[in-house]
Amino acid sequence: MSETTPMDALFTPLTLGDVTITNRIGMSAMTRNRADQTRVPSSLMKKYYLQRALGGAGLIVTEATLICPQGSQYNRSPGIWNMDQVAGWRKITNVVHLARSRMYCQLWHMGRLGDPDSDEFVSCVRSNVLTRMIKRSTAQPVYGPSAIPAKSRKACFHYLGGTRELGPVPTEIPDPSTIVAQFKNAAIHAKLAGFDGVELLAGNGFLVDQFLDSGSNIRTDQWGGSPENRARFGLEILKALGDVFGPNVSMKISPGGGLNDMGMPLEEAIATFSYFVSEADKLKLSYIVFSRFRPQLDVLPEGKPRGTPHDLLATYGKLVRNAKTFVVGAVTPAEAENLVTTGQVDGVFFGTLWITHPDLAKRIRHGKYIDNLFAVPHLYGDVDVDPKLGYTDYPTITY
Ligand SMILES: Cc1cc2nc3c(=O)[nH]c(=O)nc-3n(C[C@H](O)[C@H](O)[C@H](O)COP(=O)(O)O)c2cc1C
Repeated sequence: MSETTPMDALFTPLTLGDVTITNRIGMSAMTRNRADQTRVPSSLMKKYYLQRALGGAGLIVTEATLICPQGSQYNRSPGIWNMDQVAGWRKITNVVHLARSRMYCQLWHMGRLGDPDSDEFVSCVRSNVLTRMIKRSTAQPVYGPSAIPAKSRKACFHYLGGTRELGPVPTEIPDPSTIVAQFKNAAIHAKLAGFDGVELLAGNGFLVDQFLDSGSNIRTDQWGGSPENRARFGLEILKALGDVFGPNVSMKISPGGGLNDMGMPLEEAIATFSYFVSEADKLKLSYIVFSRFRPQLDVLPEGKPRGTPHDLLATYGKLVRNAKTFVVGAVTPAEAENLVTTGQVDGVFFGTLWITHPDLAKRIRHGKYIDNLFAVPHLYGDVDVDPKLGYTDYPTITY
């Protein structure tokens, strides 16, 4: 694809919270599983993010980063609950800043999508079998807002080899404020690691989304029931993150559902997310990113789509008065320029195009082809496969 328009709107600086980014092109959070065994960010990750900073990304959002040990199905996805992890991230933010890009850390709790049989706790201590058993017996359970498992686990879980259809029934979180505190602790660590801000992963069917959705949250206390109560968990987290990062707090939401067994009837989805967006916006976030429904990721648990696709910008854009608005999901450079020019969004995120093109923003700026082929089998890395493949080996253009 060759872009011939000048793309001037995309290359206008933008202020997010108290940070100014050089253009409107963000790199969306993408899990790539290249941290080390103990979930410490690796030197290979440093190279990967630096390549994209040098490639002109105005803002880079890290891959989803675990706020606490929680049995992640994603081997080698990074964490930010201990000081080794903070030190690993610090090396990455340092080089990204030297390349004149800015970096947010995406904070992640998987909730009911955790894997009780993962080596999460074990890998943290590089232990023998006995220690494993002890660790597992003292580990946190797989938590959810309510004791409702996600349906179609096969489609949700990349690393279970399709051997299980249904996961464990999650344990209802006794006191959600303890998890709010874990998010705050992760934000304190993100600050120490030199991040410019944090993005709360409040979409894609993970824990915050599970609280928002009436299909996964049937609590009868103040954390469940009405849209106000279901939104409370996300809003409390955003407030806690603001205590640490001031105006440099953002969130990603996916009101159209579909992914990881999320989806409310359309009217309820709109009522819930309208309330959530309006209240979140009152907290003076730096930006809100709307993640568009992607039919290929709808898990079709009973052969029927779970998602309720609707026009996110038309429905919720008007409710955002303070934060900057971003969109992600199959956006093309030409559409991005149009969305910014017409004022529908302040900026865009690209996902997969950044995987395949380390110099994506430069290519867009210079009207170059965006034509690298996608090495799909290497998306999440694999055991005994060189982690550089399909990660740091995509070619750039000489300018
Ligand atoms: C390999 C891969 C990993 C992803 N991991 C995350 C993630 O960790 N956090 C997140 O919010 N979204 C994640 N996403 C979704 C992307 O951030 C983005 O929203 C999605 O790919 C749509 O954008 P695109 O059409 O430009 O790729 C991931 C997407 C891909 C392809």
